[in-house]
Amino acid sequence: MRNYTGVKDLGNLDEAVKEALEIKKNRFAYKNLGENRTLLMVFFNSSLRTRLSTQKAGMNLGMNTMVLDVNQGAWKLETERGVIMDGDKSEHLLEAIPVMGSYCDIIGVRSFANFESKKFDYEETIINQFIKYSGKSVFSMESATCHPLQAFADLITIEEHKETARPKVVLSWAPHPNALPQAVPNSFADFMNEANIDFVITHPKGYELSEQFVRNARVNFDQMNAFEGADFIYAKNWSAFQDPNYGKILSKDMSWTVSDRQMAITNNAHFMHCLPVRRNMIVTDDVIDGPRSLVIQEAANREIAAQTVIKRILEGLQ
Ligand code: CP
Repeated sequence: MRNYTGVKDLGNLDEAVKEALEIKKNRFAYKNLGENRTLLMVFFNSSLRTRLSTQKAGMNLGMNTMVLDVNQGAWKLETERGVIMDGDKSEHLLEAIPVMGSYCDIIGVRSFANFESKKFDYEETIINQFIKYSGKSVFSMESATCHPLQAFADLITIEEHKETARPKVVLSWAPHPNALPQAVPNSFADFMNEANIDFVITHPKGYELSEQFVRNARVNFDQMNAFEGADFIYAKNWSAFQDPNYGKILSKDMSWTVSDRQMAITNNAHFMHCLPVRRNMIVTDDVIDGPRSLVIQEAANREIAAQTVIKRILEGLQ
């Protein structure tokens, strides 16, 4: 694998999940693979899970790891081409990226949507510049429109906990005080569409995701109806994708908060969320603290997902 920006880079998804579960049984089996290799993790945005799990994954593989927080202690970076740099940004990505590439073998990049331009976000301008100008393998630690390490960890978690061969998985919008990107639901949909599951997306009207990710999923605007018989509930907030409301909050309807009321009509579903989560906005305390909640297991699997991806990239460098 050269780069990792989406589900397509994993090839056969069943084989990728099997490989991940093998790695989980002995995560130090490949500790020589990354010897004398350096992983650079570049963060334009905050992180807890991605930072720790990806660094741990690199260390499990014997790599040296470095972290750069672009907004804390580094020069402010210009990302647009052709601008007159007379503002507060001291360095352009066009120099910064190849310099970063000169210090490492693999680069992980976290750069959220800025919501100023849907075109800029959905063309994946930042991560694609890293791919183009670093000269190194690049993987997404959540880009403007995708979070494929999260979705891979989610699929591994579903595989571990499913109780039927083809479970019903429901991605549900839930309220949040801030405007959040579509990256997590986009990637979750992308992975679920490739997996052997019955996939349903539920959200209020106006929150339709891009067709490139929704594909064959069934979309239901009635959350209670969508939850009937579900085996997994994956809650997440996202802001509007469709024009003219791109990046806007259209609803804070608390009746969409996942509670015992909705979980009662599921097939004793597991509850999932990528974290961080706003308790009693996205999900009630009772549900997230309940015995069917998988949020900690999901977060733990971030290490396994990252290790599988970095291992495959390292194997491509040999
Ligand atoms: N789920 C996730 O990506 O968490 P962080 O933002 O803490 O990395």
